[in-house]
Amino acid sequence: MNAQVAVAKVSGAAERTETNLHGYRAFQLGSFNFRRDEYFAHISWLTRDNRPMSHTMDIGNFLRALMRDIAWGFFYGWVNFDEVVGTLNHYGTVDLFAGSYNGTMKEAGVDKLENFPTDQIRTTFEQMLDDWTNEGFDPFAAPQETSTPYGRKNGDNRAAITRARELATRCVGLKGDLALRTDARGAPVNRAFADVPQDQPETHVEPGFEGQVHAFNLFAFLSRSQVTWNPSFTSVVKHSYMCPTTEEHILPIIHGNDRVEWFFQMCDEIDWMCADKNTGKPLARILMKPGDMAAMPAYCRHQGYSPKRSMLLVWENGSPTLVYEIQKGESPEVPVKF
Ligand code: PHB
Ligand code: FE
Repeated sequence: MNAQVAVAKVSGAAERTETNLHGYRAFQLGSFNFRRDEYFAHISWLTRDNRPMSHTMDIGNFLRALMRDIAWGFFYGWVNFDEVVGTLNHYGTVDLFAGSYNGTMKEAGVDKLENFPTDQIRTTFEQMLDDWTNEGFDPFAAPQETSTPYGRKNGDNRAAITRARELATRCVGLKGDLALRTDARGAPVNRAFADVPQDQPETHVEPGFEGQVHAFNLFAFLSRSQVTWNPSFTSVVKHSYMCPTTEEHILPIIHGNDRVEWFFQMCDEIDWMCADKNTGKPLARILMKPGDMAAMPAYCRHQGYSPKRSMLLVWENGSPTLVYEIQKGESPEVPVKF
């Protein structure tokens, strides 16, 4: 068979790759190799004692996870793509691992972890996402709101995979800060939130306090989110980040915490699977209903399931020193002790 051949240089690595029979390029990071076919991503590596190992993921799940890992700058702590493969952020460098946080694989000695400068792993991940995302597939969209990730190489979807992250500096809607979402800005109300009132609060400010007192309709703002499982900063006070988001179907990553984070279920429901972040051993199932609050301790990993598009407020402590304070035992792994 006459394979289509294109030669491209992978930046950050010296190797050259060709497209395979399905039209996709392969990528390499250290001893990790990534390739895709019509349905799957295949990840292979050499174990700690140099034996070849591999793992396979559904390509849709892989691209949804890859998209978030890139967009969130490798996030806080662990971004597990599934029970085997993932990244750990060291804020300047990033570990790429397979099996290192899977109790069974670790015990069998078939795991591998390599550390890369953030720029190198980001560049390779961005190229892989670009090459492996076909026209019409949006990794940030709910499964019912996008077309298929499967099949042979077919165009690209650069507009979707390079969306700017929506981050307020102080608060959404303040002068000069992140703007409110409107139809005219390409943010119509989602089908699941047709009943959400769109009026804005009235603010009456005492003279002398102009520009300091502010309010906006957060429910209206969220009802117009075009993406799922993508927390955006709506208010920032020092290291306190309010990161609400709209959720539908499954959080595409299993997040392993390097600090405590809080969840406030603002409407509808999410079921969370919580596990030990080092081994994956199940710890708890949390069924969150409207108005419920929960805190994820720093020793857990978690993945949410949202049967209907819901609104979740994620509250993060973005202090750059917190992770080291927890490691040294100076800050607690849990939000509260009873
Ligand atoms: C989380 O890992 O805590 C998380 C990530 C993305 C979301 C919600 C929660 O949309
Ligand atoms: Fe989390």
